[in-house]
Amino acid sequence: MNAPVKTPNPVGLLAELTHRCPLGCPYCSNPLELDARADEIDTAAWKKVFSEAAALGVLHAHLSGGEPAARRDLLEIVAHCASVGLYTNLITSGIGLTRERVKALADAGLDHAQLSIQDSVGKSADRIAGYEGAFARKQAAAGWIIEAGLPLTVNAVIHRANISRAGEMVKLAVALGARRVEIAHTQYYGWGMVNRAALMPTKAQADAAIAEVEALRETYAGVIVIDHVIPDYHAQYPKACMGGWAKRTLNVTPSGKALPCHAAETIPGLEFWNVRDHSLEDIWFRSPAFNAFRGTEWMQEPCRSCPRKEIDFGGCRCQALALTGDARAADPVCHLSPHHDKVAAIAAHASEEEAATEAAYVYRAIKSPLPAE
Ligand code: SF4
Ligand code: FES
Repeated sequence: MNAPVKTPNPVGLLAELTHRCPLGCPYCSNPLELDARADEIDTAAWKKVFSEAAALGVLHAHLSGGEPAARRDLLEIVAHCASVGLYTNLITSGIGLTRERVKALADAGLDHAQLSIQDSVGKSADRIAGYEGAFARKQAAAGWIIEAGLPLTVNAVIHRANISRAGEMVKLAVALGARRVEIAHTQYYGWGMVNRAALMPTKAQADAAIAEVEALRETYAGVIVIDHVIPDYHAQYPKACMGGWAKRTLNVTPSGKALPCHAAETIPGLEFWNVRDHSLEDIWFRSPAFNAFRGTEWMQEPCRSCPRKEIDFGGCRCQALALTGDARAADPVCHLSPHHDKVAAIAAHASEEEAATEAAYVYRAIKSPLPAE
């Protein structure tokens, strides 16, 4: 089969080096079926992936997980990425790093670090992470990152338990020396979907947090850049998930499966190829999963005749499947979707009373029990 004529080459690769992680964040976007350590691809296989990615035109390698620092070969992987000319971004919880290790990673060619924080208050942050002492260790890690001369981005996922402190988290990022802060309202995939009822804020809470963070943009102009990912369920139009299916980026899982997005495995019937058996170029241009929702030909109404179809690409396929049972449907976040009332009903369900109580989480873990439907 020939490659589709207009398929652009990818610019980014999200490498999930491992699903192992000391934290248990209840909104984790990893799949519910996590890859075991024994199934992880080895150092040589990752090096091959990064070499092929660079040859394919990928510019940015995002080293993620789980916690990438759980891989003993992280330094070797970073050095290899640098040697093939990739810009490397370490997406880390900070747990598993030491001052010496951060310095060694910077010396090996690491370009940037993105550190997650769970809250601006230690007790709550540790509860959300499911790890006592995480907050203090993250602050230490931020210091080592700055000390090593690496640019730092702080990432904070916002949900009911911390939404009243979205502004405080921006201030904490400034205090930690970050150049950017990403305030990202929870996306309901993977563990986030399992914990949706416990994580969903009220509309009033979401509106207040959005206004606060937007106002801080002006206050901190020239000090820190604020990336603000607003909550899906309260929006009018969906986001262009992944910048369009198989249009800009790809993911490789710890066991070597190449995915167009982190939740793609939830879509039944897609055939994913593994980097053990195929080159990245072959996967990008010719694998069935990458071609399944490329472009706009697969769309049905209302997307097919919508003027925004090249802007948001019908939203998120995985969310469309999860909420309508049809991965080809318009993302029901869109107010034009015939299923939009489902999203509105879920968003409206988060009551003031629920919002005031501390909800129990199903923490992300390998073989964690799932709640009854
Ligand atoms: Fe996007 Fe489809 Fe809604 Fe149009 S109808 S705005 S393409 S999701
Ligand atoms: Fe799969 Fe959005 S997460 S398309």
